[in-house]
Amino acid sequence: MEPLIRMVGITKTFPGVKALDGISFDIMPGEVHVLIGENGAGKSTLMKILSGVYQPTSGKIICNGREYDQLSTKTSVEEGIAIVYQELSVINELSILENLFVGKLPTKKFMGLSVVDFKSMREKAKVVLEQVGLHHDPDTLVGDLAVPDKQLCEIAKALVSGAKVIVLDEPTTSLTTSEVERLHGLIRELKAKGCGIVYISHKMKELKAIGDRITVLKDGTYVGTYPAAEITLDELIKLMVGREIKGTYFADESVDELMTHPVIFEAQGITRSDRTCRDISFQLHEGEILGFAGLVGAGRTETMEAIFGAVPKSSGKVFLKGKELHIKEPYAAIKQGLGMLTEDRRKLGFAKNFTCKQNISIEPYIKESTWGGLGGMLSNAKEEKWANEQISALNVKCTGPEQMTVDLSGGNQQKVILGKWMAAGSEVLIFDEPTKGIDVGSKSEIYILMRKLAKAGKGVLMISSEQTELLSVCDRIAVFHGGELKAVLEGKTATEEDIVRISTTE
Ligand SMILES: Nc1ncnc2c1ncn2[C@@H]1O[C@H](COP(=O)(O)OP(=O)(O)OP(=O)(O)O)[C@@H](O)[C@H]1O
Ligand SMILES: [Mg+2]
Repeated sequence: MEPLIRMVGITKTFPGVKALDGISFDIMPGEVHVLIGENGAGKSTLMKILSGVYQPTSGKIICNGREYDQLSTKTSVEEGIAIVYQELSVINELSILENLFVGKLPTKKFMGLSVVDFKSMREKAKVVLEQVGLHHDPDTLVGDLAVPDKQLCEIAKALVSGAKVIVLDEPTTSLTTSEVERLHGLIRELKAKGCGIVYISHKMKELKAIGDRITVLKDGTYVGTYPAAEITLDELIKLMVGREIKGTYFADESVDELMTHPVIFEAQGITRSDRTCRDISFQLHEGEILGFAGLVGAGRTETMEAIFGAVPKSSGKVFLKGKELHIKEPYAAIKQGLGMLTEDRRKLGFAKNFTCKQNISIEPYIKESTWGGLGGMLSNAKEEKWANEQISALNVKCTGPEQMTVDLSGGNQQKVILGKWMAAGSEVLIFDEPTKGIDVGSKSEIYILMRKLAKAGKGVLMISSEQTELLSVCDRIAVFHGGELKAVLEGKTATEEDIVRISTTE
């Protein structure tokens, strides 16, 4: 069988970085070809060359027997290639229907004039929306959809353009288990229709469930391609990271011992004005990492936002080392020693027009300034120090502190956001999905770092939708359901089933 697409000897250099070095990659009809590698390995860049967003420095791309030195975005679409990006690219201000046909509105002749053919649009839309299982009115604004539905909209858009090759760049980072299953079902249907799928993910468990072949990249070079059924996860991790990964990251002490330590942080009866979380109380002891499990919307992020002053609370108190904090806005929270790494890195995480150095310096400046806002003396020496320390501690792959954060790979952007909170030296850190988009090796490094913080007497709270992560890092896990805290489990002894049961039924 002929591959749908063949990329041969692709090299891509950016100023100061060789992102890809002689990579060959092909996609067969009816297969899921998984692409893995550490943050910055070159996965997204290779796929952007396929979609015509980037032009390769050298190499060839062969599509349906035609050979190209480079593709434009237009040729890429014409050759049947569609990409669902790591950061979704649907347009929030347009309806589902309009998004499906952006750039390719069907027209008809009306009294000699070319007009948009809404009837044919609606008919086509109905078929693809049915196929992907997006059951909203096509006139709904995309901005009003939840992330998983936006993603389905994006896949539907690919189908409208008649794509034969569909690239999914980290499609499941924001999806819950059942949404992942739904997506995988759709991928299997597309496969059966003869489409070729490229699948990029850092969730190692998924790869073997969905992949037929797995290609590993490392630092922009090709490591190998393996049949998914014949390679173990441990072998893959070793190929990607070059070392074995430790299994658990619990405190040395037992939970009983940890409970005898002083309470460093406490929330009492937190209720949000919009009641998305109600009467939430918990204590964090010195040296422990407390995890928060539950479905999206169960009230975890909602509680943390209320604690951090990002939204109003109708009642509840917060204590740091026994002293009550008075927080009406995030600024006050930061000044009083709290830090919060937010879930949505594009919207709230980093400033787009800032360098890594500037981004990393934001929170420590706020924490340090004696006047309001960012007032006070800006010091280049300090910024350099903060940035260099974090870039090295978190192993951020960048050309240096002066590189623009937007130019980093997805996972490295996330590390910069982590870095600004680390640099601020907050007393209590709330990590909301800290390892979203982070590769297995770096995840392990981040857990070790969190453990070090806890050991040094800092408070560490972690929200995560990855149960395996909570069950290998957190000494205790608070499980949320329907805006309430339902149970606190012991990390070492709890199971995924326990968490699922409590977060769905109790
Ligand atoms: N526009 C750009 N300008 C400069 N460097 C870039 C640009 N785009 C990517 N790079 C660099 O190319 C390298 C590969 O990045 P890429 O985004 O392909 O990684 P990735 O494998 O997708 O990583 P992740 O898992 O973190 O998403 C990185 O070192 C990145 O900083
Ligand atoms: Mg990427």
